Amino acid sequence: MIKAVRGTRDLYGETLFYKRWIEDTARRVLEAAGALEIETPILEEAPVFERGVGATSDIVQKEMYAFTDRGGRRLVLRPEGTAGVMRAFLEHGMKVWPAPVKLYYRGPMFRAERPQKGRYRQFYQVGYEAVGLSEPAVDAEAIALLIDLLRALGLKDWTIKLGTVGDPEDRARYNAYLREVLEPYKEALSEDSRARLVRNPLRILDSKDPKDREVLEKAGVRPLWDFLSDEARVHFRAVEDLLKALGIAFEEDPTLVRGLDYYARTAFEVHHHRLGAQAALGGGGRYDGLTALLGGPSLPGVGWAVGTDRLILALEAEGIPAPGAPALDLYLLPLDEAAVAEALALAEQLRPRFRVELAYQPKRPGKGIKEAEKRGARLVGFLGEGERARGTISVKRLDTGEQTELPREALFGWLEALK
Ligand code: HAM
Repeated sequence: MIKAVRGTRDLYGETLFYKRWIEDTARRVLEAAGALEIETPILEEAPVFERGVGATSDIVQKEMYAFTDRGGRRLVLRPEGTAGVMRAFLEHGMKVWPAPVKLYYRGPMFRAERPQKGRYRQFYQVGYEAVGLSEPAVDAEAIALLIDLLRALGLKDWTIKLGTVGDPEDRARYNAYLREVLEPYKEALSEDSRARLVRNPLRILDSKDPKDREVLEKAGVRPLWDFLSDEARVHFRAVEDLLKALGIAFEEDPTLVRGLDYYARTAFEVHHHRLGAQAALGGGGRYDGLTALLGGPSLPGVGWAVGTDRLILALEAEGIPAPGAPALDLYLLPLDEAAVAEALALAEQLRPRFRVELAYQPKRPGKGIKEAEKRGARLVGFLGEGERARGTISVKRLDTGEQTELPREALFGWLEALK
């Protein structure tokens, strides 16, 4: 039997109720802050991410689903949302809109990672981007909106980690320093990290390889924060002060490095305490200058994305149920052949205000009641010869067992009163 591709999954039932609820809640939270939804294509030209996310990042080096199409174009299934949204921002001249331009999106992303719980090759994100202003208040608002979303979903067991990755010049200085102090340990590094030492030594700090961890320990490397410019430092403190003024608790994390190269200054992640290895519910930060990498003018921006799949796991772990489909109000039961058409017509009249299902062939009342119970109906409506002659319907409440006969014209109002 053919199965779903490894690392992808079919979403239905409870999982999809969760996903829909998360996306609806995000829409409410983000639109209230003036954000406009954007949907960009899943397929993008490879350079959008090579330049945007960064040629030395793991995502671009190892995890992109990339291929050449029949026209010889190098295309990828997007591994994240930000670079594509910025490509669209430039393409549609949104630069002239009042700043900051706030955009939000949701949809599938693709990364060829090793699948495990909370880590999939097709996964879903909801993301938010605010483009055009470099004020620290825009960073603080972005973080506050992420928290608003978590709170609106009722999640409690998480922590915000906040750091700064400095400006590109700060990182260049730090990279030069790392090259210098790690060079003597070159042979002891993992193969990947030896390559990183040449191209982007900062990535070594992120390595989980025990060899690299040992070298970092021995070399006693100084933190990136020692290399921050005054401007980057002032910006970071301003964001922290604004968050404190909002009453938002966060954990300062000097070691926070994000997996994407476009970040500058503020970086943050939200971790859930009960998710195990894949604990990051979401992350983001400032990415001033990303638009320039994509061939446009250099503009500031800040944003985040949450992983919908992981939010679902977190909601389950905290015992928060998904709001399901509305319960079945009425199950209509034709007692003879002539009543089938009547039941169908009555169902049409009552929908969509009420959720109505019916039996498509006559059934005995006892059998019909069982069918109604299986479907979780509140009421069963019987349509037989007597009801037809009198222009009525007999309705039985499944909770109390009470039964009444009422004129068909009165049914809508009667159901309404019961809601
Ligand atoms: P990211 O940290 O790569 O950031 O991804 C954000 C979130 O997507 C993660 O925290 C995680 O919840 C979820 N996620 C990532 N990979 C997987 C996976 N393989 N399976 C399941 N969930 C996953 C970004 O993507 C940036 N674009 C965020 C951003 C927006 N920065 C600025 N604006």
